[in-house]
Amino acid sequence: MPNIRVDCNEVLANRIGINGIKPDWLKKIEPKAKEAIKVLQKNRGKEMTGWFELPHEKEQVKKILASARRKRGKYEDIVVLGIGGSALGTIALRSALLHPYHNMLDRQMRKGQPRLHIMDNIDPVSMEHLFEDVIDIHKTLFVVISKSGATAETMSQFMLAFELVESCLGERNLKKHLVAITDADKGFLRPIAEELGLESYFINDDVGGRFSVLSPVGLLPAALCGMDVRALLTGAAQMDTRCKTASLYKNPAAMYAAIHYLADTNLKAPLSVMMPYASGLKDVADWYCQLWAESLGKARNRKGKVVNVGPTPIKAVGVTDQHSQVQLYTEGPYDKVVTFIGVDKFNLKLPIPQVFKEVEGIGYLGGQNFNKLMEAERRATQIALSDAGRMNLSITLPKIDANSLGQLFFLFEVATAIAGEFYDIDAYNQPGVEAGKIATYALMGRKGYEKEAKKIAGRKAADKKYIL
Ligand code: PA5
Repeated sequence: MPNIRVDCNEVLANRIGINGIKPDWLKKIEPKAKEAIKVLQKNRGKEMTGWFELPHEKEQVKKILASARRKRGKYEDIVVLGIGGSALGTIALRSALLHPYHNMLDRQMRKGQPRLHIMDNIDPVSMEHLFEDVIDIHKTLFVVISKSGATAETMSQFMLAFELVESCLGERNLKKHLVAITDADKGFLRPIAEELGLESYFINDDVGGRFSVLSPVGLLPAALCGMDVRALLTGAAQMDTRCKTASLYKNPAAMYAAIHYLADTNLKAPLSVMMPYASGLKDVADWYCQLWAESLGKARNRKGKVVNVGPTPIKAVGVTDQHSQVQLYTEGPYDKVVTFIGVDKFNLKLPIPQVFKEVEGIGYLGGQNFNKLMEAERRATQIALSDAGRMNLSITLPKIDANSLGQLFFLFEVATAIAGEFYDIDAYNQPGVEAGKIATYALMGRKGYEKEAKKIAGRKAADKKYIL
């Protein structure tokens, strides 16, 4: 299948001026990039880099596909319960690979595929309305996903789903309506799943949440909704091959990481704007934001020194955000690298009708098509940014399909890992997220967290003067 293309020209100082990256800096960082690639490839599959092997995994994929075949036609709604890395990849897959209005279509229009809801928030109103007004419990499959098997948000959702199924359909039907994806041994979900005899899948210990889209976390919901899981993995494997090469100039992930690292450290440009020009890819930008932010935003480096590093990711959508954020990107501070994601060929062509020919200001649009307009808008924004001396990259997908998406996911995962090497930080932990989880346990009265609860209760009271 054709490769996705990564064009880095418009970040270079010899094209966009002094606020760009000097080609010499890339030459200078090349040995460090080579070393990073070497280390990653040598250790691939070990110490939290199990995600490297996911495109080549066979066992669970077979089980997932067999399960999806067995379940075909049996459910009207799939409800994924999960958060962060246990949800964002599936949301990105749904937006990119299903009909844009999939959940609103009738069964026939959905070609018999179930609707897919991903509950990545515990907002009581949206939960209650989904459960009460949208799904029919008799025809719903809940897929509860939590690597740790302990996250309060997901576990409370699971309790709600469990209670609903048990009370409406009886204990004997739990197995038909609940599936669990969690660690093989750790956490609270695994023993519950086993005790209830639920169908379950494991997330390898060495695969972190935000790197898990190509594990059962993303693959099971994808397969249940008829997405081409094998093509997704083939695309990722294709990118894996490209990202093995030690040459910075041939390795798109290393180049992407080097550009962002140099922009941050040499040009004080730590913001990474991800701007797909396709509504179907808007949630890939959300997925990227989590991957980049949680992996690279760290207080300490590997030697334990306080460094407080981390490029900040920002989501933008073309063309929508041309009318919202682009003014800032063109004229505001020189603190960003904008990544455009374009598509060679959309899955359909939509003509602009030849009406209002006599109205000079809009008549020129008639007879053309939205595809051309979309591409022109992307190109125009890119030119405007370059002319204003703003760094930007262009990633182009041949089309939006499972293969391209697999390539894209893997590209950003490897780029994140290489950026972690450049910053010399642990890209796989998330002490900042854990701190919040612990405070939640304390506030919710979990046993063992009494000390934290006491500490929170003893916090300085808010000054009323500043409560307006
Ligand atoms: O990337 C991560 O590790 C996190 O975003 C987790 O995915 C998120 O905190 C949810 O954790 P869990 O899957 O353990 O419920």
